[in-house]
Amino acid sequence: MADLIEMDAPVLTEAPVITIDGPSGTGKGAISHLLAESLHWHILDSGALYRLVGVGAHKNGILLNDINALKKFTIEMEVYFSRLYEGSLELNGEDISTQIRQESSGDLASQVAVIPEVREALYERQLAFRQMPGLVADGRDMGTVVFPDAVQKFFLTASLEVRAQRRYKQLINKGLSVNLRDLLQDIETRDERDSLRAISPLVPANDALVIDTTDLDINQVFKKVLIAIQQALNLGI
Ligand code: DC
Repeated sequence: MADLIEMDAPVLTEAPVITIDGPSGTGKGAISHLLAESLHWHILDSGALYRLVGVGAHKNGILLNDINALKKFTIEMEVYFSRLYEGSLELNGEDISTQIRQESSGDLASQVAVIPEVREALYERQLAFRQMPGLVADGRDMGTVVFPDAVQKFFLTASLEVRAQRRYKQLINKGLSVNLRDLLQDIETRDERDSLRAISPLVPANDALVIDTTDLDINQVFKKVLIAIQQALNLGI
């Protein structure tokens, strides 16, 4: 019979990271917030950074094909996440929390996200969010590119129709005007662009736990996420 060897838990020199990737409307944002609150960890909404670049470029009249100006803007933009858990944020001193959540901002974000220089500039900013006691990182390439050493990776999916319905409700609840058919079309276009881009495309990491949320509500998804984390990390939450 093989000897039982008792091993100590590995000593983490860097803050642990849990990544939650997937397309929009899968509940990534809500799950990330619930998780960060439960663990008392930091949170990174990486989509917000891409939205800031897209909206900021638009506001400053920077054309999306002016790569040098975009890169400069991305490096120099001053971002202030005033109340992170509520997703409220400022760009260069201006509160743009509402504007940043509009579908048009998501589309701008997706367009600047194909540009390697923008991704490179945002990479460093994203790493800076990794602080003790830990980080929950929400996005498209958190588990594949930015935090490949994450202690647990999730990839959330759901049917296009269900995702469009969810986004519709979210936007209406925020008082934004939106048309369901346009929304479905926008999401499909954005999915395609995000999934087919050459650099850091939207794909699950090989070691990600994929959860199809089509028929699940947020609490059911959160339960699955917690079980996986408890099993993987023995965190006692
Ligand atoms: O998660 P979101 O809807 O706020 O993201 C907006 C866009 O930003 C998304 O369509 C693609 C881009 N994005 C990205 O390319 N990589 C990330 N890690 C996060 C977002």
